Amino acid sequence: MSIFKAHITAMSAYKPPLDGRDAQRHLLLDFNERTLPVSQPVQHALIDYIQSGRLQMYPAYGDIVDKIAAYAGVKPEQAMITNGSDQGIELIIRSACREGDEAIIPGKGFAFYSQCARVENLTILEPQYQFETGFPFEAVLAAISPRTRVICLASPNNPSGTPISREQIIAIAQAAPHSAILVDECYYEYVQQTVADLVDELPNLVVTRTFSKTWGIPSLRLGYILSNAANIKALLNVRGPYDVNQLAVVAIRAALEQPEFVHTYVQEVMTQSKPLLEQYLNGKGIRFWPSVSNYLWTFPAQPQAVADALQAAGILVRPNADPQGNLGLRMTLGTLEQTQRLISELDKVLS
Ligand SMILES: Cc1ncc(COP(=O)(O)O)c(C=O)c1O
Repeated sequence: MSIFKAHITAMSAYKPPLDGRDAQRHLLLDFNERTLPVSQPVQHALIDYIQSGRLQMYPAYGDIVDKIAAYAGVKPEQAMITNGSDQGIELIIRSACREGDEAIIPGKGFAFYSQCARVENLTILEPQYQFETGFPFEAVLAAISPRTRVICLASPNNPSGTPISREQIIAIAQAAPHSAILVDECYYEYVQQTVADLVDELPNLVVTRTFSKTWGIPSLRLGYILSNAANIKALLNVRGPYDVNQLAVVAIRAALEQPEFVHTYVQEVMTQSKPLLEQYLNGKGIRFWPSVSNYLWTFPAQPQAVADALQAAGILVRPNADPQGNLGLRMTLGTLEQTQRLISELDKVLS
């Protein structure tokens, strides 16, 4: 008999395919990461910190929350930092839900919401995204019950890249005032669409964001939550005092001094690489989900053969099946040059 709760021992771990990935050997188009290293000032800030003889100290975050709040356009008391946005998601679900409550988690979506919901032993309702109609707005509204305690809305969704409109998020928040509305804005910088300005108006709105994607430090783990001050105060009661590591804070303090470094990359990805890959896929008649973010979920005829050929050419993409069981390949967009390389390798295997 296990010492742990039966529903937890019955779960299986969330294991993304990380083995063998190497930024030196591969063009990494499999995790929606930034495909270029962080800036020199960020690297120097990290080296300086390591050499300053302060690694033996517990983290001290200083005014980083004020700086992030200013970046996000909210008051400092409406923001908190987390160990990646994964920790934000986990804190929100853990703090909002009791065993047996209901979570609405549209599928197919980011796997970590369901993992957290299963840990809390919640009943998961999973309205499905549709290729033709996108976000299942009506089905989410219909799934709301008095037992709903969290609704996970990724805008945009991963893997499909589908956005959720501001009007739909507001309507859902108003239809479920007793439930946390977790709006995951992991890819905010690519999309430039947010509901963070509504945290005063919608008391059940909790937004998660990250420095893992555009800002380029998934390895250091820094995310943040935006919500009204009372919600942030409650969530801070749950987060540990040192859960965020000091190097992440050092890196982002330096990165926020130079936001144009991120904006230039975002511009190239969204205005050059994305249209190029879309045009190529359309020309080849390869179906892909309309995406507003830095990745395309594509459905070539022989997906595994395409993934294998790309891997042999040093390019990693992410196999991911749709709800009907059709295997697709989610491809991250990088710089124009990297996208041209992807297209050239795709062309070899597709012709
Ligand atoms: C939609 C979505 N939310 C959250 C995350 C987790 O990001 P983080 O590295 O901040 O934990 C990811 C990572 O892929 C994601 O795609």
